[in-house]
Amino acid sequence: MAKHSVGWAPLQKRWLWALLLMLSVSTVIAFLIRVAFDPCDRHFQLSQNKPVRLASPVQHKSNPVPVLIASPIVVKPSPLSFMKSKLVLLVSHELSLSGGPLLLMELAFLLRSVGAEVFWITIQKQSETDEVIYSLEHKMLNRGVQVLSAKGQEAIEVSLKADLVVLNTAVAGKWLDAVLKENVPRVLSKVLWWIHEMRGHYFKLDYVKHLPLVAGAMIDSHVTTEYWKNRTRERLGIKMPETYVVHLGNSKELMEVAENSVAKRVLREHVRESLGVQNEDILFAIINSVSRGKGQDLFLRSFCESLQLIKEKKLQVPSLHAVIVGSDMTAQTKFESELRNFVTVKKIQDRVHFVNKTLTVAPYLAAIDVLVQNSQARGECFGRITIEAMAFQLPVLGTAAGGTTEIVVNGTTGLLHPVGKEGVTPLAKNIVKLATQVERRLTMGKRGYERVKSRFLEHHMAERIAVVLKDVLRKSKSRSHS
Ligand SMILES: *[C@@H]1O[C@H](CO)[C@@H](O)[C@H](O)[C@H]1NC(C)=O
Ligand SMILES: *[C@@H]1O[C@H](CO)[C@@H](O)[C@H](O)[C@H]1NC(C)=O
Ligand SMILES: *[C@@H]1O[C@H](CO)[C@@H](O)[C@H](O)[C@H]1NC(C)=O
Repeated sequence: MAKHSVGWAPLQKRWLWALLLMLSVSTVIAFLIRVAFDPCDRHFQLSQNKPVRLASPVQHKSNPVPVLIASPIVVKPSPLSFMKSKLVLLVSHELSLSGGPLLLMELAFLLRSVGAEVFWITIQKQSETDEVIYSLEHKMLNRGVQVLSAKGQEAIEVSLKADLVVLNTAVAGKWLDAVLKENVPRVLSKVLWWIHEMRGHYFKLDYVKHLPLVAGAMIDSHVTTEYWKNRTRERLGIKMPETYVVHLGNSKELMEVAENSVAKRVLREHVRESLGVQNEDILFAIINSVSRGKGQDLFLRSFCESLQLIKEKKLQVPSLHAVIVGSDMTAQTKFESELRNFVTVKKIQDRVHFVNKTLTVAPYLAAIDVLVQNSQARGECFGRITIEAMAFQLPVLGTAAGGTTEIVVNGTTGLLHPVGKEGVTPLAKNIVKLATQVERRLTMGKRGYERVKSRFLEHHMAERIAVVLKDVLRKSKSRSHS
């Protein structure tokens, strides 16, 4: 059927509707399309104008895209099956749609799927609306996760009975003394501390003084681990316990969209149309909450410089566009205004597009040609958006810092540039390289996809976590017998 025939348009709309429905359902309900936002990034929340829906994906029987539902079923025994019947208490610093809590929820569901008994405690109610918290708790209860109050006798009893207690983020350490009080020493030997942050203010004795005595710490990248080891020693004079590096993995839901060429094409067309970007234009994106630490300002300078380079050298390339996904005019107003002013002053309004923050990143990953990961200073703890982009066969232009250096292979799956102002011109040149060398760009994307398939999938993450949990269980058993 010709694309412009009358029959196509409504069909396309229906496809799109089904796709978006599927995306929103799996995002908010399964939590697993997640994502885009690093666990480091604790302030990235669902935008207010996106309703949280508790719909069932099976209610739309007339779904015209059966291929989306027919996911290949591969039944493999879970590497976590030894956790069957174990009692696990998960302690979350907050309940929100930001990276840290969502990751802990993924672990909760992985453990439930192998028959572990899972309890969940949220320490502090944050800025989330009641509606979001209600939906998240509801989802957990549906999956058999038992939600407890952070304080009180029941919390103490469950922690004493538990085989394993997982504290999520450094801040969760406050809960130990506040609630367990004199029972703290009886619980420490079975605590696994999952840390996803790399900022100075987490190195407070208040939060982490019990760190040396817990069974283990689990951190998202080698760089972050080194930083924690150094900082705790130098700043606080304490020693990290045995520390395990666990790289994250992409959810099955994200991989399903990434590997569905029909879905990708429809999403690509739709998003490009909504941005006013032609199919043949080359689209670069940063997908991160807008803040100086994520480097959108420096990226725009590079982008501008790359346009000048192309003009000066009279290179024949399609139009370059940039999209910044993660705007929030209500939060980072000054920085946002700075970005928008820059775009106006440089007269590149028709090339630069701002999109509000969203948890549904798949449509943007389907629509773009290159992901830019421009996090500054120490970079990302891990940077989950990086592996999500690679799943969509996108090359990554990233700063040579943090977790990015453990994900992107420089010259093979992307190109790295220095952080700070020194990185502006190298990034501009890399943008020009990927714009002019089509073959190289596509090859890098494929290599990135292969890298994700070989080490950054959910089951890889589950395998890595399984190794840690086995070790921690073994150690805490031997400690309690001695
Ligand atoms: C460790 O931290 C100190 C300051 O606290 C710093 O001077 C040093 O460079 C750090 N070392 C490493 C390997 O990061
Ligand atoms: C983006 O967010 C701003 C407020 O921060 C809002 O005014 C605007 O309507 C939003 N745009 C879209 C397309 O949702
Ligand atoms: C990345 O590779 C390029 C060559 O492909 C090299 O010039 C650059 O220095 C490398 N950057 C890092 C951070 O390794």
